[in-house]
Amino acid sequence: MKSTARVIVTAAGTVVGQGIIKCLKLANVREEGPEYRITATDASPLAAGIYRAQAGFVVPYGSDPSYVDSMIGVVRKTESEAIFIGSDEELLPLAAARERIEKETGAKVIVNTPEALETCLDKWKTYIFLKERDLPRAESAVPEFKESFFAASRFPLVVKPREGHGSLGFQIVRDEDEAELAMAVIERYGGRPLIQEYLGDEGTEFSTGVTVTGDGSAVMSSIAMRRTLKGGQTYKAFIDDFADVRKSAETVALALGATGPVNIQSRLVDGVSKIFEVNSRLSASCSMRAVAGVNEPDILFRNAVLGEEVRVEEYQSLVAMRYWNEVYLRRSTYDRTEKERVFSGPDSAVLPYF
Ligand SMILES: Nc1ncnc2c1ncn2[C@@H]1O[C@H](COP(=O)(O)OP(=O)(O)OP(=O)(O)O)[C@@H](O)[C@H]1O
Ligand SMILES: [Mg+2]
Repeated sequence: MKSTARVIVTAAGTVVGQGIIKCLKLANVREEGPEYRITATDASPLAAGIYRAQAGFVVPYGSDPSYVDSMIGVVRKTESEAIFIGSDEELLPLAAARERIEKETGAKVIVNTPEALETCLDKWKTYIFLKERDLPRAESAVPEFKESFFAASRFPLVVKPREGHGSLGFQIVRDEDEAELAMAVIERYGGRPLIQEYLGDEGTEFSTGVTVTGDGSAVMSSIAMRRTLKGGQTYKAFIDDFADVRKSAETVALALGATGPVNIQSRLVDGVSKIFEVNSRLSASCSMRAVAGVNEPDILFRNAVLGEEVRVEEYQSLVAMRYWNEVYLRRSTYDRTEKERVFSGPDSAVLPYF
């Protein structure tokens, strides 16, 4: 039996938001379970995902003081039962307002605690968290400790911003001069640099998705993919069992006190999955995981809203190769959406031409 589930996906112009939309639409193909009615939001009317949902709303940026009120307005208008978050910028505002949103509207915000988010949004805090628990990690230092770090390490090293995404500002440096330059560039653009051990082999990078129950007590699913990147995004992916990588990611997710989705990024060094980044949110590659049999947004909705105990133990081995695609819509539809900040489709096309 199908039941209707009204949900919001934010940041529908990002690959994460679009990944979540793909997962929910994939879940709709099943004969059982929730039939998702998706409302998409974004700060721009030029967000492709807005036009692939039943309805779309242009909302303020996550940093805007009116953001949460505006989201509550969208929840009320659409009678949505859950909010999935597609951008880093919206995580903290929505996590902070979670209780208020749930109380005022009844909608569940699929998000981790502000503490878990803060640990992950800052790569230095992530490193300290892993170190304190003696979990496998890429050795790291902030500029304050650079002398001792340089003395104890071997070049090349990595320099990257503590709060980054999409590989922006990531540099491999061969000596101290290059490290200084890379740090200066990050600082110049308002960032805070982190120096990190270089985890050599590009061919052994993993992205692992874990979902944890809303009370933080149990792992519902974990799925790992070996992947290469392009422009900071997963480009080629091999989804497989990778039991050791998954086990390590599950340990990290539970230690973090996660109450939702976690994505762990690591590289294998001498057989150890050394973690260099943890994102306590859904990731763009959730769509590929869903095709393999682990539909994370669906798992999280069924747990948070329907109160189901979900445990997914198995998935398929798959290879995924990404490519660019386009969404088309009539110019008049776009102009209307831009003016009215609302889209009530359906009037867009993705062509089956590839
Ligand atoms: N210590 C490291 N050694 C080798 N490669 C690394 C290291 N740190 C990062 N990288 C490479 O750079 C990419 C981006 O780095 P990282 O994931 O830390 O930052 P990010 O830009 O915040 O990523 P995301 O967009 O996933 O949030 C990684 O996926 C990896 O390929
Ligand atoms: Mg990353």
